[in-house]
Amino acid sequence: MGSSRLPGKIMMKINKRPIISYQIERIKRAKEIDDIVVITTKNQEDKKIIDFCKSNNINFFAGSETDLLDRHYQAAKKFKADFVIKIPSDSPFSDPEIINNLVDTWRKNESLIDYISNYHPPTFPDGLDVEGASFLAVEDAWRNASKNFEREHTFPYIWDSPDRYRIWNIDNQHGDFFLTHRWTLDYLEDFEFIRRVFEDLYPINKDFSMLDLLDFLENNPDIKSINSHLNGVNWYRNELDNLKTIGRSDFMNANKELQTINSVNHLKKTLEIIPGASQTLSKGYTQWSLGASPLFIHEAKGCQVKDLDGNWYIDYGMGLGPFILGYCDPDVDEAVRKQLSIGTMYTLPSDIEYHAAKLICDVIPCAEMVRFGKNGSDVTSAAVKLSRAYTKRDKILSCGYHGWQDWYISSTERDSGIPKSYKELIDSVGYNDIKTLENLIRSKKYSCIIMEPVGAVKPENNFLQKVRELCNETNTLLVFDELFTGFRWSIGGASEYFKVTPDLACFGKALSNGMPVSCIAGKKKIMSLFEDVFFSFTYGGEALSLAAIIANINKLKTNNVYEHIETLGNYLIDGLSKLIIKNDLQNVVSISGYPFKSVLQFASYDEFTGLEIKTLIQQEMAKRGVLFIGYHLISFSHTRKDIDFTLRAYDEVFEILFKALNDKNLMSCLEGKVVTQIFKNVGDRSQK
Ligand SMILES: Cc1ncc(COP(=O)(O)O)c(C=O)c1O
Repeated sequence: MGSSRLPGKIMMKINKRPIISYQIERIKRAKEIDDIVVITTKNQEDKKIIDFCKSNNINFFAGSETDLLDRHYQAAKKFKADFVIKIPSDSPFSDPEIINNLVDTWRKNESLIDYISNYHPPTFPDGLDVEGASFLAVEDAWRNASKNFEREHTFPYIWDSPDRYRIWNIDNQHGDFFLTHRWTLDYLEDFEFIRRVFEDLYPINKDFSMLDLLDFLENNPDIKSINSHLNGVNWYRNELDNLKTIGRSDFMNANKELQTINSVNHLKKTLEIIPGASQTLSKGYTQWSLGASPLFIHEAKGCQVKDLDGNWYIDYGMGLGPFILGYCDPDVDEAVRKQLSIGTMYTLPSDIEYHAAKLICDVIPCAEMVRFGKNGSDVTSAAVKLSRAYTKRDKILSCGYHGWQDWYISSTERDSGIPKSYKELIDSVGYNDIKTLENLIRSKKYSCIIMEPVGAVKPENNFLQKVRELCNETNTLLVFDELFTGFRWSIGGASEYFKVTPDLACFGKALSNGMPVSCIAGKKKIMSLFEDVFFSFTYGGEALSLAAIIANINKLKTNNVYEHIETLGNYLIDGLSKLIIKNDLQNVVSISGYPFKSVLQFASYDEFTGLEIKTLIQQEMAKRGVLFIGYHLISFSHTRKDIDFTLRAYDEVFEILFKALNDKNLMSCLEGKVVTQIFKNVGDRSQK
């Protein structure tokens, strides 16, 4: 009775009968149950329930108001139950068939089961929950459960400890209805929905089953929609940080009707005062389907992000690379907080600069000395400057993307505002194009080749080793731009992974799990030129970020982060490869790259461009709770469950794509604007 949202809810009346009487009438038809006991409290407000039980000859037990585990344990003891079934009182449509099935399954497998339910994972409509545990398991939980929510919600201590108890689940053979059908009683809208069912269906079919009710709702969408905005609203959502076996993705975007109106309105406001409404082009609204996908994020945790409309998504962009451990990693955050309490930076250098640099020297193959920057562009620019000073040559050769600064961006089509003469100082070469590279580099005009060691395309014919040899032969410095690969392919980056050591290497992103810092590392004889080469700025030694580097690297060193990412990454690539074949999309969709970063690419098909196809995928994945950016960066916080969730979404979305291509109506399936491309021809950023 003590519900804060709907006080006295189970005694609310429909056709002059309290709701609880309908539920008990239904449960009584479950012939596998020996005794039914209504568990309540001794509070004055629950006296109505006790009176109802007394006048209807129903067993009851009154116990603690807040400790439901104790209430159930004491009742089980009093009524000598060997197996305790719990059916919540806010479930008026409790289905006797489901209860019988659960008890029957337990009886047949008694020696194998401590706990059995039909909602771990849930597939039945929300409000048909049944769970049961052996008396011994209940007693064990009663002795050991200590957290408030474990005592308040009866059995979470049991079902959230699969290492302690043998857990069994019953799946719904008819499909997954958990996030699409809400039959529980918690809000006034729920009551309205339940009232309509008992008024309209009950008179013609008193014993209606789950399937009867599903059918009824299919034919009465107005009734179904009364409380459908509450789909997925559940107490677990507030305890996710405490639960091991339930994640945010269990509750994401239940309706599949994605609201992005707050994103769209926020964009309008932001465009008035921030050009492009973003500080980073590849995060901005041209990269996300305007009207059909989120445009702004408000908060994040682990591998999940929440947009301005309250939708949660599994994220695979991970802030464009930094979050190797996950958003809000507790160890990194704690280190940052600790540093914050003693100062963020000072008038002299801080000793923390040495400690962070020392750790980097320990794990990065080429690192004999280190300098810090803030963005990737800071340190790639520093590497070029240092190379020019060291070799006394002006030209550079580049392979991949290296940041926003003039020396590099002049070589792309985004060269607005840069004097033409800059272009004369840089040449570009494609990945694996060893012939062109050799011809150019043999001219001995280049101070360095700065390259992303790997992207979506794998190195062929010892490409990296050959580049290393050519650099040695021509006295050209080899600079690895490890902004993306650093601390992601392995703790020593791509250089460790491919066993090729550059002269200089640049890091950022996964270096600090999300704090703004980058670094250049390399051989002493080159790095010591920084005494003269000017690379100096106010925030260079900002200490919060350096504290994050130390905590991050220590965590990467002592946990099985790379094994975790490799296993899940391969599982995702494997699953996607199978889904592409299953949905007959081999000519359109391809997956390439590494478990640390896999890239989904789209070829144009008939009259549809790769970008139009990408837009449809992004739109449909967003509806299903996955933020699709075109590639997958898996972090330590992603779980197998997240990947399974993602693969299920891809399967549905690929089916939609196949149909749209077949029916030649892809453009009319798009609910928002087509996304654009930032660069036509830079590494794996280009469309096939
Ligand atoms: C390989 C590579 N190099 C350089 C950069 C530039 O880094 P920032 O954007 O931090 O300046 C990036 C950024 O995405 C990158 O991926």
